[in-house]
Formats: sequence, structure tokens, C-alpha cells
Amino acid sequence: MEIKKITCIGAGYVGGPTMSVIAQKNPHIQVTVVDLNAQRIADWNQEDLSLLPVYEPGLDAVVAEARGRNLFFSTEVEKAIHEADMIFISVNTPTKTYGKGKGQAADLKFIELCARQIADVSESAKIIVEKSTIPVRTAATIKNILDHTGKGIQFHVLSNPEFLAEGTAIADLHNPDRILIGGEDADAIQALKKIYEAWVPAERVISTNLWSSELSKLVANAFLAQRVSSINSISELCEATGANVDEVAHAIGQDSRIGSKFLKASVGFGGSCFQKDLLNLVYIARSYNLHAVADYWEQVIKINDHQKSRFAEKIIQTMYNTVNGKKIAFLGWAFKKNTNDTRESAAIYVADHLLEEQANIAVFDPKVREEQIYEDLDYLATRSNDENRALLQVQDDAYAAADGAHGLAILTEWDEFKELDWAKIKTVMKKPAFIFDGRKLLDGKKLQELGFVYYAIGE
Ligand code: UDX
Ligand code: UDX
Ligand code: ADP
Repeated sequence: MEIKKITCIGAGYVGGPTMSVIAQKNPHIQVTVVDLNAQRIADWNQEDLSLLPVYEPGLDAVVAEARGRNLFFSTEVEKAIHEADMIFISVNTPTKTYGKGKGQAADLKFIELCARQIADVSESAKIIVEKSTIPVRTAATIKNILDHTGKGIQFHVLSNPEFLAEGTAIADLHNPDRILIGGEDADAIQALKKIYEAWVPAERVISTNLWSSELSKLVANAFLAQRVSSINSISELCEATGANVDEVAHAIGQDSRIGSKFLKASVGFGGSCFQKDLLNLVYIARSYNLHAVADYWEQVIKINDHQKSRFAEKIIQTMYNTVNGKKIAFLGWAFKKNTNDTRESAAIYVADHLLEEQANIAVFDPKVREEQIYEDLDYLATRSNDENRALLQVQDDAYAAADGAHGLAILTEWDEFKELDWAKIKTVMKKPAFIFDGRKLLDGKKLQELGFVYYAIGE
């Protein structure tokens, strides 16, 4: 099967960067990324590459190389589906906010809509590739819809989960640990393999059956999240006992059976995947009556929620048990550094907790837009949109955020925060000047010498 045209439905954090790299490495294949959201497509087509809708280091260069050559961004969904030999489904699958499985199961309505649209429009055989994170057996659902609503055309459905991490998406795509392809049809698998083998060594392209591939994505994220919750649970114990969590993490990470990655204690993990995939895993386990399994993985989320509220409580307690009317500077809002994505960011929940105590918050994040910050808070619906705007302000730099603040909290580990003029920040803050380092980012000793009262997770 010779693939000449690829279409990707969904121009988000996964679809955009992934298709940009596939197009970059396969100049003979025409790659079209479509989205219902016209603004998003317009942003992907921006002349000025600093205005792309997704911020990822190195993405601008890849887009510059491929866009207009064999990479296109379009709102013409049906046309692009009709023309394609291979279609990637890369739409969002948020956790359900209604009905059965509310707050736990993945909402598959966008996936189903895609499948119906593909069935409707297609007049030639196609390979359908699921890229979105989805519950196990979604491929079967897609195939079912295609076979029952289509025009008798042959569809092969493959699962090809994406393992890129935001902030390092381009590096991860250029040099993946592995590419996983699940499916039943050898020719279809081979066709997709060939696209990746344009730049990925063949031995890193693994194929499995559909279910193993779908489940592996959930399990990979669950294991990674579990490591973060494990070290975060130990951070609380370190604070109680006088051990230092970075020292413990370093010591255990030297054991090659444990390994050193994903052991950085933090204010809590965020991002669009970890919590959603854990909830999904828990929901699936429960639906098979595997309650011990479900309880085990649910605990990973509970520790994460605990870590976020523990950090907020620490701020309140330290500042003499009240933050009412006090200004607290937030450095960072994104869920990790080097991204403008804020989905499930710990900062949102810590802010919400402090706003409930009537604190005033001033946020600075180098990449997150002001409207996004308000949208994130409004979405929680804890208080009115007007109250959120009255209690929280967004600033253009760290010094303005710190000006007149009683306390300052680090929520995202942006490198540039290390280079700030901390002596200057000390002069503009109220005294005693408290720093709460939710990422263990700063040099605590130096800050204490400057006269700050410094608290870091796990010390
Ligand atoms: C363990 C630690 O590995 C060692 O560093 C520490 O000093 C003492 O405790 P030990 O209990 O001797 O060592 O053996 P280990 O190889 O860790 O196995 C422990 C148990 O886990 C065994 O019953 C083993 O069968 C089981 N295991 C281990 C699994 O079921 N699956 C695995 O993948 C690994
Ligand atoms: C994750 C997976 O890593 C990726 O393979 C998958 O495709 C999507 O989900 P992502 O959510 O983009 O990627 O970022 P990741 O680097 O995994 O970080 C997730 C969260 O965990 C962030 O909030 C990060 O700050 C936090 N984290 C990570 C820690 O708190 N400590 C760590 O040691 C590592
Ligand atoms: P992810 O992190 O999984 O990439 P995003 O929310 O960033 O998630 O991106 C998903 C994109 O998919 C959104 O831009 C959304 O508009 C788009 N989308 C969802 N459903 C459809 C559909 N049926 N047709 C086209 N685009 C869709």
C-alpha cells in the first residue's frame, strides 16, 4: 500500500507537532492537518512563526521547512478526508463531564463524530490511525461505525499512541524511544511503519495487537504518574523527618532497577494526559469488577490532589494562618516548563484554594496568555468570573508580580526564574518575604542569605 496523502483530524498539541515532523521527514507525502476550529487553523498558517497556537521549542523550524511544501493546515475537513489514503484521528478525548462515567470515563463523542464523518465522505479504501489517547477497545468502536455506516469501503484501523511529552515534543518526535503500532492487518501496519522508518530505526518500531497497543498508552502514563506521586508522597515524609527528598531521589535513582527519571518532587503533576489516563484506567478496571486494581491506581490521583492542597495549606499556615487580603505572587502557570499548555496545571488548583481564603494573586508566566489563566479559573466555577478578575491579576514580568507581595510561590520550573535578580525582588516584597518553592527550583541557601523565609517541597 503506497501512501501519498495523509490527513490528520485535530490540529492540537498532538496532531500539530506530530504531523509537522511526519511531513518534514517524508517530503514526498502530502500531509494535511484539519480542524473544526477555524482560529486554530489560521494560527497554524501565521506568517510569524512565534504566533503558532502551540509553543514547543524547535517547532517553528520544522513548520518553516515543511509548511506550503507538503504540509498544509486547513478547515476543509471533508475534502481532506476524501483525498487521503491514511487518516490520523488526533482529536481531544476529555474526561466526561456528564452522565455515566462522569469525572472518570473518556468522552468519545469527538472520536465517534470523526468516524461517522469518515464513513460518510470516503469513496476509496483508507487506513485509519488512532492517535488520541482512548480507552481500550475504541479501535473496535471506530471499525464498527465505519463498517456499518460507510459505503462498503475497506477500512483498516490501527492504534498508534503518541508518547511525546510537551515541552520536548520535537526532540521526542525526532528521537522516540519507540513507536508502537497496534493492528490486525499486516499490510496496513507495514504502510504506517514505512512512514516512521523514514527517520526512526526499524528496531524501535514495535507492533502488537490492537488491545495491547491501546492499553500500553494508558499504562505508560499511569506508571509515569505513579512515580511522581510516589516521590511526592515521600516529600511529605521528608518534611516531617528532616530528610531531603532530592537526596533520597538521587540515592534511589542510582539503582538501575529504579532509574533516575521522573523522580522530581513537585507541587503535583498536571497536563492533559496523566489524570485523564489514570481515571480511564480506574474506570475500565471497575467496569470489569477489578476493584483492587482500580483502588490501587486511584490512589495515585489522590496523592496528587493531596500534594496540591498540601502546598496551598503550607502557604496559609506559614503566613500566620491567614492570607486574607494578602498579595501572593505566582511564578508560572503552565503545567511544566517550555509549554504554553495549562490543562490540569497544579497552579490552577493552588490558586483556587488560596482565592477561597480571599488571597490576592498576581501571576506571571512567560508563555501563558492572560485570557487562558482566567478561562482555567472560570472553568472550575468556584466563584463568579468577576470575582476571579477582582482577586487575581496577570503581570508581564516577575518583578511586577512580586511588587508588594507578602509571599511568592514557584508553580512552574521555568529556567528563567533561576536567573531573576532575587535581591531586587526582596526589596519590593513585604517583610518577612516568604518564598514557597513548589518545584525545588531555586537555591534555598542563597535566598536565605538574602533574608527570605524559604520553604521548598520535601525539605
Ligand atoms: C530485595 C531488593 O531487591 C534488594 O535490593 C534489597 O537489598 C533486599 O530486598 P530480594 O528480596 O532478595 O532483594 O530479591 P528481589 O530480586 O528484589 O525480589 C523480591 C521479590 O519480588 C521476589 O519474590 C521476586 O520473585 C519478586 N519479583 C521481583 C517479581 O515478582 N517480579 C519482578 O519483576 C521482580
Ligand atoms: C506525558 C507523558 O510523559 C508522555 O509520554 C505522554 O505522551 C503524554 O503525557 P506530558 O504530560 O506532556 O507527557 O509531560 P510530562 O513530562 O510527562 O509531565 C507531566 C507532569 O508531571 C508535569 O506536570 C510535570 O511537571 C510533572 N512531573 C514530571 C513531576 O512533577 N516530576 C517529575 O519528575 C516528572
Ligand atoms: P490534544 O492534546 O489531544 O492534541 P487538543 O485539544 O490540543 O488535544 O486538540 C484537539 C483538536 O481536535 C482541537 O483543536 C479540536 O478543535 C479538534 N477537533 C475535535 N473534534 C474534531 C472534528 N470532528 N473534526 C475536526 N477537528 C476536531
